[in-house]
Amino acid sequence: MKYKPLLVAHRGFSGRYPENTRLAFAQAKKLGVDGFELDIQLSRDKKVIVFHDETLERTTNGSGLVGGKTLAELKKLDAGGGEKIPTLAETLKQFKDGPQLYIELKYHGKGEYKPLVNAFLKTRDRQKMKYPPVICSFNWPALEYLRKRDKNIGIEVLHIRKPFTSVLKFAGKIKAWGLFTNTKEISPKKVTLAHKQDLNVFAWTVNDRQIAARCRLAMVDGVIGNYPDKLR
Ligand code: G3P
Ligand code: CA
Repeated sequence: MKYKPLLVAHRGFSGRYPENTRLAFAQAKKLGVDGFELDIQLSRDKKVIVFHDETLERTTNGSGLVGGKTLAELKKLDAGGGEKIPTLAETLKQFKDGPQLYIELKYHGKGEYKPLVNAFLKTRDRQKMKYPPVICSFNWPALEYLRKRDKNIGIEVLHIRKPFTSVLKFAGKIKAWGLFTNTKEISPKKVTLAHKQDLNVFAWTVNDRQIAARCRLAMVDGVIGNYPDKLR
């Protein structure tokens, strides 16, 4: 039987629906994925919103910095096909019965990392979830701080272009559950090394069947892609 890693929709079912929106998440769930990934950041009035870019132009009809707008201003925008930018609270509520959520703490530039971690924890603690959200980030100090604030939360170390030994060392230090590794950096050797340290490995972003096959052969634990329909 073919080995099947977990299937995770990247920014929801973003290949076919507006990324990081209620619709993209609902369509991912409908497809029967094991989970979906989403990005969070803070609005100007410190509300946790679901959004990827630093600026509004690519995915909305607005312009300027996301962090320069209040939640009320962001809610007026069209995030694609009439979809609104969701808050984290709305998203947690909508998917309290599953699937698994993989939440990326998204930082642009060199801002302070603690406010987003604190706001995330506060929002999460207000919503009972069947599957507690798992967190990832390229911002390692933020992950280290998160681990100090929550001893049990699932953390995946997001990394690119870093020596793999330092990735493994950091993951051990913060008792991470695993690694989110770029497809270009996946190899059977690295996955074996991670598994020996009891870390899972998820590959991103897997957007075609050939790459998916390579990741499967390397025995990754999960694949994260924009077109989960192509990866089943
Ligand atoms: O899941 C990891 C992946 O989402 C990181 O890259 O740019 O798509 O947020 P990006
Ligand atoms: Ca992301």
